[in-house]
Amino acid sequence: MAGVLVDRGLEGVVVGETVLSNVEGEIGRLTYRGYDIHDLAVNATFEEVVHLLLYGHLPTYSELNDLAAKLNEERALPSALIAIMHAIPKDAWPMDVLRTSISALAHYMPHLPDGSHVSNADAAVRLIAKTPTIIAAWDRIRRGLEPIVPDSKLRLAANFLWMRSGEKPIVEAERALDTYFVLLSDHSYNASTFAARVTASTHADIYGAITSAVATLAGDLHGGAPSKVMTMLEEIGLPEKAEPYVRALLARGEKIMGMGHREYKIRDPRAAHLEQMAKNLTEKSHTKWYLIARALEDAADKVLREVKPGKRIYANVEFYTAPTLSSLGVSSDEFTCLFAAARMAGWCAHVLEQAQENRLIRPQATYIGPDVHPFEPINGRTGIPAMNGSVNGKAQ
Ligand code: COA
Repeated sequence: MAGVLVDRGLEGVVVGETVLSNVEGEIGRLTYRGYDIHDLAVNATFEEVVHLLLYGHLPTYSELNDLAAKLNEERALPSALIAIMHAIPKDAWPMDVLRTSISALAHYMPHLPDGSHVSNADAAVRLIAKTPTIIAAWDRIRRGLEPIVPDSKLRLAANFLWMRSGEKPIVEAERALDTYFVLLSDHSYNASTFAARVTASTHADIYGAITSAVATLAGDLHGGAPSKVMTMLEEIGLPEKAEPYVRALLARGEKIMGMGHREYKIRDPRAAHLEQMAKNLTEKSHTKWYLIARALEDAADKVLREVKPGKRIYANVEFYTAPTLSSLGVSSDEFTCLFAAARMAGWCAHVLEQAQENRLIRPQATYIGPDVHPFEPINGRTGIPAMNGSVNGKAQ
């Protein structure tokens, strides 16, 4: 029996419950287990947020030290994985490499006799610890350099910057990346998290679920936007050119990357922190990216209100990510990988939550293809029948 047809993009449809994070789009509030993102961004480290998401509460000193030690132990990659990465074409897109590497990592992790892996907090810690190492290693490998061994004295964010450049980061850079990780750690049932939960709901293990999540994050309607924001900033070149650029873009019917959000009806609460970081970092590095981004956000809202009266548009989390990460020396094609490194905490926590009270996620679709009709033997076929709802003769 056919069910109820909901919005194709599942807009406004509630598909499950979570205790992990809450997105209140109307008032622009994001909380992790009841803690406001504004408090966490200013006061908590990424490691504390990992503890909050995985173990249910903010850690004491001794719990934090235990977690930091575990993360530290798990940072290194199996040498076989590094060998696989060496075999990948050097011009491969970093998100493709991350997806392949997360999937390949499973071969070298402890597994059960049937080949599957226990999806528990230890596996989650392993994934959270190894993801920055994979990203940094790929950047070195593609530049013809050897990966840098993780430094056990550095925390996760600082260690990433170290593994990438071989230089100990300044405090501002470490703090900025750590805050970025805090801000991006979780976001309720966003597309990639939902993908992870769908995969986990079939009893696929955590490596499979996270591979789905990484693949889903890559698209530019989700985590792939900030690289395109950087392209826009480069094309604009000067703050005063932002407005004509936006006018031309909207006239072509294109969207402004890094703006708009399915859930937030006012400005994304994470954007304010990223904007401040972008401002501070670009002032320090004497780059113009923040000023162009600021002019672009203002111009976008102004022009959209003219073109579509009553419509407002605001920066989402991806917008100021571009000038922020670029100021930290991260290449624009790696921005989405950094998003994945942060969201790994939330994805893993959601996979574990899904497993706790699992129900297979399996929706229905309304069939809009041809009515039932007889099979045509190949020697009597006259060509592709034009059928309602078909594409190249195949019902979609
Ligand atoms: N630039 C210009 N117009 C935009 C826009 C943008 N970035 N985002 C939304 N709009 C407009 C749409 O044109 C549409 O106008 P209409 O009602 O007159 O047709 C309206 O706002 C709703 O947009 P829609 O795409 O249907 O909303 P959505 O909920 O599906 O989209 C996003 C949410 C994120 C996919 C969308 O805002 C977008 O594509 N943003 C750019 C990509 C991006 O930044 N992705 C990262 C998300 S965190």
